[in-house]
Amino acid sequence: MHARDLIGGLSHLVGEAGVIRDPADQSPYLRDWLGRYEGRTPVVVRPRTTTEVAAVMRLCHQTGTPVVPQGGNTGMSGGATPDGSGAQVVLSLSRMTRIREVDPVNNTLTVDAGVLLADVQRVAHEAQRHFPLSLGAEGQCTIGGNLATNAGGTSVLRYGNARELTLGLEVVLPDGRVWDGLRGLRKDNAGYDLKSLFIGSEGTLGVITGAVLKLSPLAPTRAVAWVGAHTPAHIVALLTHLQAAFGQSVTAFEMMSAACLTIEATQRDDAPALLRGTHAYYALIELADTQDDDLAGRLRQALAQATQAGTIIDARVAEDATSAAMMWRAREGISQAQVRGGKTIKHDIALPISRLAAFIDEADATVAARFPQVRLINFGHVGDGNLHYNALLPLDIPDDDFAQLATAMNRCVHDIVVQRGGTISAEHGVGQLRRDALRRYKSPVEMDLMLMIKRALDPNQLMNPGKVL
Ligand code: FAD
Ligand code: MLT
Ligand code: ZN
Repeated sequence: MHARDLIGGLSHLVGEAGVIRDPADQSPYLRDWLGRYEGRTPVVVRPRTTTEVAAVMRLCHQTGTPVVPQGGNTGMSGGATPDGSGAQVVLSLSRMTRIREVDPVNNTLTVDAGVLLADVQRVAHEAQRHFPLSLGAEGQCTIGGNLATNAGGTSVLRYGNARELTLGLEVVLPDGRVWDGLRGLRKDNAGYDLKSLFIGSEGTLGVITGAVLKLSPLAPTRAVAWVGAHTPAHIVALLTHLQAAFGQSVTAFEMMSAACLTIEATQRDDAPALLRGTHAYYALIELADTQDDDLAGRLRQALAQATQAGTIIDARVAEDATSAAMMWRAREGISQAQVRGGKTIKHDIALPISRLAAFIDEADATVAARFPQVRLINFGHVGDGNLHYNALLPLDIPDDDFAQLATAMNRCVHDIVVQRGGTISAEHGVGQLRRDALRRYKSPVEMDLMLMIKRALDPNQLMNPGKVL
């Protein structure tokens, strides 16, 4: 079908307000958040309902048109960016923002896929419940994108990742049929777990249009602390110490190296003085509980014990909500600071927590010897064994040199991760960034299983081509 006829057909299905034809208006949809990938599209289509998504998918199926689903476009692996062919339609869920049902007895919330994560959290809170998925992009990313990437964030340690927070899904299949799996059940073994298959499939198997999300009780008492330590091994020892003392109340446990704060400090006037001295590594800890039995006081005591034992060097428990917010801002500002500070080589790896410290020792030494020109920016969700073992290079490094260096460093770091029993993709997804690496590290049997699933659900290879597999 000619592009003009396709656009006309799509506009007939979703209305003129639901299609973006003008290249200037399309541009925010064609570039990824990190600015690494840029593509072209004949049209960005923005349906408002599941019925409209189904009609769009049917037309694309009939005309052999490839489709790239997109939520908030905050992904870090280029998964939502079309290729340069100009043939792939971008299907944006951003106008599907309906809250379908709040059920405080079943502790569930049913929403359209295009609802922003921050709005999901807000609606849960208004119902005196907590939706625990939390990440730096929560004001821009959509719940559909979170599910498509099986997002992690800062409270996985306690509540699990997006998959564990989802009870039901609604999905439009590549041929336009709708699978209504919007069940709010905590036990449901009637057949294969299709919901788990679509979660984390990064738009390669179907379009998620709705979800039933699991809510938790509010845990209004919080205690937040900032800690300095000599090494990652000390930080991991502190995690073990706090989990023994506080159990499930340990909600977030994040680590960052000194370099992470340095890049922020050079770019921000308001970088808070979190501790008086400078330390090689820092941890940000958050405890949360349903009742206030002096959580902050008990945390202060536990950190004092850890200091006396030599596990950490110094600690500060936030005195109030403002200093807690400052601590979180210092942690969550790292991604943005990195983008402004230079060209970034990304890693999104996970290892068993017990092997993290040894991994960092080996990787730091290897990187220093092989890539002395890079500056390591190592931070992440230590409580989940997930590190963003990133690197920074000057903005003016030529693109070819950067690409070569990134490929070599990715390979070097990933080899060490895999040798130590880890994964090369923990929470950001494979997208196009890690597609080649996936093939390298997955066994032929695992690749074959994934390809069989892909062929069964999307025989014409129209769903997000060039991503994941
Ligand atoms: P998009 O970027 O639009 O899409 C991501 C992928 O999902 C693409 O493959 C796309 O095709 C697919 N997709 C999107 N919507 C649908 C749908 N409805 N149906 C089918 N497929 C779909 N991620 C974490 O996990 N943890 C973090 O801590 C974290 N921190 C971040 C901090 C910052 C500052 C930024 C910018 C990003 C961060 N991310 C993090 C990455 C990103 O926010 C997540 O991957 C998020 O889940 C993506 O949601 P999105 O709506 O922006 O999806
Ligand atoms: C984060 O945890 O802040 C993001 O997932 C990481 C990143 O920018 O690599
Ligand atoms: Zn992260």
